[in-house]
Amino acid sequence: MDKSLGQTKQVKVRDSFTSSIGVLAATLGSAVGLGNIWKFPSITGQNGGAAFILVYLVCVLMVGLPVMIAELLIGRRTKSNAVGAFKQLEPKRPWYLIGSFGAIASFLIMAFYTDVAGWVYSYIFKSLNGSLVSTNPSVTSKVFGDFVSNPMASLIWQWVALLVVGIIITAGVSKGIERITKTLMPVLFILLIVCAGRALTLPGAKEGLTFLFNPNFSKITGGVILAAMGLSFFKLSLGMGTMITYGSYMGEGENIPKTAIKVMLADTLVSILAGLAIFPAVFSFGFKPDSGPNLLFITIPTVFASMPFGKVFMVMFFILVSIAATTAMISLLEVPVAYLIEELKWPRRRATLLSIIILALVGVTATLSTSVLADFKIFGKTFFDLYDYLTSNLIMPISGIAVAIYLGWKWGYKRIADEISNHGEVKSQGLIRVYVIILKFIAPVAIALVLLNGLGLFKLK
Ligand code: TRP
Repeated sequence: MDKSLGQTKQVKVRDSFTSSIGVLAATLGSAVGLGNIWKFPSITGQNGGAAFILVYLVCVLMVGLPVMIAELLIGRRTKSNAVGAFKQLEPKRPWYLIGSFGAIASFLIMAFYTDVAGWVYSYIFKSLNGSLVSTNPSVTSKVFGDFVSNPMASLIWQWVALLVVGIIITAGVSKGIERITKTLMPVLFILLIVCAGRALTLPGAKEGLTFLFNPNFSKITGGVILAAMGLSFFKLSLGMGTMITYGSYMGEGENIPKTAIKVMLADTLVSILAGLAIFPAVFSFGFKPDSGPNLLFITIPTVFASMPFGKVFMVMFFILVSIAATTAMISLLEVPVAYLIEELKWPRRRATLLSIIILALVGVTATLSTSVLADFKIFGKTFFDLYDYLTSNLIMPISGIAVAIYLGWKWGYKRIADEISNHGEVKSQGLIRVYVIILKFIAPVAIALVLLNGLGLFKLK
């Protein structure tokens, strides 16, 4: 049965990205998201600033980037969704489970991601109507608390987020994903630069810079390194079939390593810029950097309210976060949708509709974690925290190991070299060799060590 599905697939012309700039916008749109503006600053703030950033950068280079290139190669070679890709490459082997797990896990991410995206959308309106504009953290804390503990309000905003993403995905790969990301990514960069510029010119901004760039390694533990690695996977949208799916929309002439490196650099730049927009201002007005996930929703509004023209900057800031969240959600939703379209032959509209309905249902558990389900805990975590922890700290690393091993050992040097160089067109033998060594040995071992150590199953000392 699988075979016949595989054959009919070849006949149809697949909707794909139409230009290199579209490829870059879409892939960067996937990478840049709440990870940069909500997770990165809050985890950095809680784990000691600069030292954490350095560990994070090492993870991005040694495991994030290699795995990202690997996923894109698998996608482009097979021109297929995350599950179909492995079925086509290894018809009789269970490698397709990597794709299936990823597609299922993408629902877990989306469950809490759409919840936070809903908060962000609503904050555009809250900053416009002035209800957030207060320099007193207990006021902004109450606004946030009232909002997230109101089940209906947070659910409705989550559904709005799902609807927006659903509409874009229904429009298709080139007319939906590519067109929207090409338009929105430049806007995001401009708004971010304006906000960072504002924060950096505040009196007392220097303390924030010291925090961001002056490392103190005393806070780095196995758990912190695992968090940094999980963040590098989360940031580059790995382990969920996203990059396999996006790779499948890339043409034969696309230089995959170059695209991946550009995306990695630009994504890191966005995280640093987000840090620059947030920490100098936080310190300048005497707030603490370690308020965690609430940083964005409680500390940031007070910070904006404390500065001249704060309301304008606050609105701009939440628009830019909404853009980032939206282009990232698109890439998460496309994974199950591409699967349903290609493997079950569903029309795109039906595939999208079913996916967002399931997401709305799973999402309820995450969203109600801050209200009616707040006391319902599994392993000491609410659904929201559990989905977040499981995906970044368990599923993504395991999938990362599997992808690295699959490509490094099953494909081997010759096949990787052929695909990565566009069949010999791009010439850089030396780099390809280094890449294969990282993929075969360094990435899987490093991920396994960090994973076991972070889970407390193995001690580094
Ligand atoms: N990279 C996005 C961010 O930083 C989130 C994201 C989008 C993602 N697609 C993904 C994370 C796939 C893991 C897997 O916000």
